[in-house]
Amino acid sequence: MKSTAVNDTISRIVPSLRESAGITLNRGDVRYVVTEYGIAYLHGKNVRERAMSLISIAHPKFRPWLIEEAKKRGIIYRDQAFIPGKRGEYPENLETHRTTKTGLHLFLRPVKISDEPLLKDFFYSLSDRSLNRRFLSIRKDMPHERLQDFVIIDYSHEVVILGVIGSAENELIVGVGQYGIDEKSHTAEVAFAVRDDHQNRGIGQEMLSYLTYLAKKEGLLGFTAEVMIDNKPMLHVFEKGGFDIKKKNDAGVYDLKMAFRG
Ligand SMILES: CC(C)(COP(=O)(O)OP(=O)(O)OC[C@H]1O[C@@H](n2cnc3c(N)ncnc32)[C@H](O)[C@@H]1OP(=O)(O)O)[C@@H](O)C(=O)NCCC(=O)NCCS
Repeated sequence: MKSTAVNDTISRIVPSLRESAGITLNRGDVRYVVTEYGIAYLHGKNVRERAMSLISIAHPKFRPWLIEEAKKRGIIYRDQAFIPGKRGEYPENLETHRTTKTGLHLFLRPVKISDEPLLKDFFYSLSDRSLNRRFLSIRKDMPHERLQDFVIIDYSHEVVILGVIGSAENELIVGVGQYGIDEKSHTAEVAFAVRDDHQNRGIGQEMLSYLTYLAKKEGLLGFTAEVMIDNKPMLHVFEKGGFDIKKKNDAGVYDLKMAFRG
């Protein structure tokens, strides 16, 4: 269906149905809802997840209203963050497909506001060592407040790209690559995590190469990163990235400055 009606003045995705609206389907019957903004796969999801999926395919101008209405009704988290307008819009043009050096087909796509449950599964799948290397901390829990930082993205300042495998209704996040721009230095701090059971299959390398392409296109001059000095796989992937690298050891963690060439 089209997300709007009457010359874009009415949203077809609404917080609740009109009294006496004729309804011929129940919630369990609906699997997909498709609009010009994407596909919401609803099967097996709880009410909050359904609401976030539907809001993510509503017309952008109605999304802030839908978020507010859903909050009022207690359907979604009351502190659900949201970035209205162009800055927070899903940049579909950044979706791309890659095949890694081991022949794994990877769908690389920006994170969506409806990805919180998938990301939660991803982070809880990581081993203590991977979590520790990614966050340089021993904290293991991933509550809603912390997950929001990964899904509510102002794309004018940061990019979060997911490496996904599986069909649209059964997506599995196998990697997360992200950068946040430092306006002053025209560089971006980059970080990665790949599911333990999918490491060493070229996912990290593909994600770095894609983020490098995007960052260069943005006119950035290089990446920075903090990497534990014993994190050989990450250091190796960065070294293969073709940057001019400067390393500073600060209490067991390398501060890396990686300038783009050419
Ligand atoms: C670092 C990380 C993102 C790399 O992702 P990945 O998908 O496994 O990376 P790739 O498969 O593309 O490449 C891994 C490379 O490291 C190499 N490698 C693996 N273990 C190594 C080791 N102990 N010493 C040296 N190199 C090693 C692999 O051989 C491979 O290099 P190659 O392509 O030249 O053979 C992943 O290991 C991870 O998520 N680690 C935990 C989180 C983390 O450390 N994040 C970094 C914080 S910035």
